[in-house]
Amino acid sequence: MGGDILLRTGQIADAEPCAKICFEAFEEVAKEHNFPTDMPTREITSKIFTFMISQPGYYSVIAEKDGKIIGSNFLDGRDTTAGIGPLSVEPNEQNKGVGRLLMQDAVDHALEKNFQGIRLVTATFHNRAVGLYSKIGFIVREQLSAVHGSPIERDIPECHVRRAVFADLEECNKVCLRVHGYDRGSELRDSISRGKAVVVGREGRISGYSTGVSYAGHSAAVTNQDLKALISAAPSFGIGFLLPMRNNEVLHWCLDNGLRLVRPMTLMSMGPYTEPKGPFLPSILY
Ligand SMILES: CC(C)(COP(=O)(O)OP(=O)(O)OC[C@H]1O[C@@H](n2cnc3c(N)ncnc32)[C@H](O)[C@@H]1OP(=O)(O)O)[C@@H](O)C(=O)NCCC(=O)NCCS
Repeated sequence: MGGDILLRTGQIADAEPCAKICFEAFEEVAKEHNFPTDMPTREITSKIFTFMISQPGYYSVIAEKDGKIIGSNFLDGRDTTAGIGPLSVEPNEQNKGVGRLLMQDAVDHALEKNFQGIRLVTATFHNRAVGLYSKIGFIVREQLSAVHGSPIERDIPECHVRRAVFADLEECNKVCLRVHGYDRGSELRDSISRGKAVVVGREGRISGYSTGVSYAGHSAAVTNQDLKALISAAPSFGIGFLLPMRNNEVLHWCLDNGLRLVRPMTLMSMGPYTEPKGPFLPSILY
């Protein structure tokens, strides 16, 4: 690799060019493998990048060559576990070592900040991405499928789903801690403040929550019944949600309710990792 790549942190003005590269890079690799793309529309991709660059708790790294942006990577550091991505390199500049530089930079940042662990989710069919992340030190932890379809909107016996409020934070964090060994309280707080989060209750107690049944959100629950209630209550799935394939009960239930498997995905981690002890749906970051 030539030594002409400059890495620097992102500024608001970078959101648009980075989003364009990301949208095109993801679209190209998806087309190559005959899958639908991971990115919503160009406009939404651009909004997501503006959010990530401006939001406290995020870290961004931009790669420049001859003064021109050719790739970027992000780290969501709002909680004690860091989630990395999306990583993208301009199609003409791929396979020349830029992705490795951007990923290593984000990992170094996470290590420096002493996160409890580092996670990411990638398309399973993108061999270069999975190969690169494995070489950097990530371990494959969970096979996922992006699942899509019409909202289910069925009542699940004994489960009541409602909008989350700040007073629910502590109980929700307990559910996440029970499932993953850490909580995602800051992310949940952001989601509650934007009116996106819901909780499921059974017998008067919170037994699960979701920051969105979509790529952008994560969910954790005490039982599969609770997770089904969260999925059932979702008004839409955006471009899909990520289901751990070995949760056979929920997988079969999704299929019985008309949902379709659209894309195989893989959750990888670096550093401390606790095997999940309950049902969950990861976000596209972790
Ligand atoms: C994934 C992506 C960021 C990688 O960036 P890149 O600049 O092309 O990758 P690099 O050249 O830095 O590294 C590729 C590495 O994968 C390795 N690799 C390539 N094909 C491989 C394969 N089939 N099996 C195993 N390893 C492979 C290369 O040998 C290289 O490893 P090295 O650094 O040890 O030499 C880029 O391809 C991209 O933008 N893809 C589209 C968007 C996307 O899918 N992003 C990832 C989703 S999280």
